[in-house]
Amino acid sequence: MQHIVYAQNMAAELAQAIEREGTPDRLLLLTDENTHRLCRPVIETILAGAHEMVVGASDVHKTLATLATVWEKMQEGGATRHSLMINLGGGMITDLGGFAAATFKRGIRFINVPTTLLSMVDAAVGGKTGINFGGLKNEVGSFADAETVLVSTEFLRTLDAENICSGYAEMLKHALLSNKEMWVRHLKFDLATPDLEMLQTLVAESIEVKRRIVAEDPHERGLRKALNLGHTVGHAFESLMLEKGRAVLHGYAVAWGLVCELFMSCAEAAFPTDAMQATVRFIFDHYGRPDFTCDDYDRLHELMLHDKKNVAGQINFSLLSDVGKVVINRRVERSLVDEAFDFLREA
Ligand SMILES: NC(=O)c1ccc[n+]([C@@H]2O[C@H](COP(=O)([O-])OP(=O)(O)OC[C@H]3O[C@@H](n4cnc5c(N)ncnc54)[C@H](O)[C@@H]3O)[C@@H](O)[C@H]2O)c1
Ligand SMILES: [Zn+2]
Repeated sequence: MQHIVYAQNMAAELAQAIEREGTPDRLLLLTDENTHRLCRPVIETILAGAHEMVVGASDVHKTLATLATVWEKMQEGGATRHSLMINLGGGMITDLGGFAAATFKRGIRFINVPTTLLSMVDAAVGGKTGINFGGLKNEVGSFADAETVLVSTEFLRTLDAENICSGYAEMLKHALLSNKEMWVRHLKFDLATPDLEMLQTLVAESIEVKRRIVAEDPHERGLRKALNLGHTVGHAFESLMLEKGRAVLHGYAVAWGLVCELFMSCAEAAFPTDAMQATVRFIFDHYGRPDFTCDDYDRLHELMLHDKKNVAGQINFSLLSDVGKVVINRRVERSLVDEAFDFLREA
């Protein structure tokens, strides 16, 4: 079972995690240009002799070309099957680095040290790794677990407010999938001026929700689809805004997806209206609304139909019948989806 460590002293606890792996013959560190500058100093003391690899920042670099340079650098650094890789960065680094480690010499061990909120609660745990390819996101990849994931919200001191909000949308999703008490605490959290210590507690709970769901369905055959809550509509908004030249962070699109899918949950699965309204209020307060009109509805439907998670050309939604009660594989009439778009624009 993968170790998740909620670190108080990152360098010391990372040293322990490395020790747990016996004696790797080589330590490799993957960062992007930002995490190299901003996060690497935190673990500098344990890096003596490590082979360091730095790549360009952000999802545009999660490519085959970058992966090839990482493999090359691993070779140059003398990595063997007994080496250990540390991925220090956001989801781009944990996805790319995890995949590089999973494939190099048929797989070497790796440790994830997520440095964005999104990667802490989502990308760094659950075993999905990969790259974008042929214009499609996460088109090539594999399931591979980090031996250890070390989590500390201290890294978030340098992260901008938008990326904090973006990651928090996934936490809101986990709370909705979990239980009322957790959901209430998530709506009360002061996201505008986050207390990082308090956030660490929420992050730990959030990771446990994802871990529980993934443990029951590691390869996404059924229950793991619960994690798609907000994402069927959310991905369509992410693509639409990108096409319009007004790209938004993933979590903003997910938050808007949650608004629509909770609206649909009320109509289709008897989700309580007051719980929907409380969640929607929180989302409008912190994420605003997307700039779109009814002329965009056709395109949004097209984008949803092309979602790779569909089976046999049917859009399958993960909805809720209550906080903590998920219903997967729900088909919904187009007219209701349009009403949900109206609601997002005008409610
Ligand atoms: N594997 C999964 O299950 C999974 C789940 C969700 C998302 N993802 C993937 O994760 C990626 C998105 O992750 P992300 O939002 O972390 O993006 P990211 O890794 O691109 O990071 C966002 C930006 O923040 C910078 N950054 C990272 N840590 C920082 C820090 N502590 N201080 C200041 N700046 C910092 C990065 O350099 C980058 O510019 C996407 O590629 C997505 O596909 C994967
Ligand atoms: Zn997501």
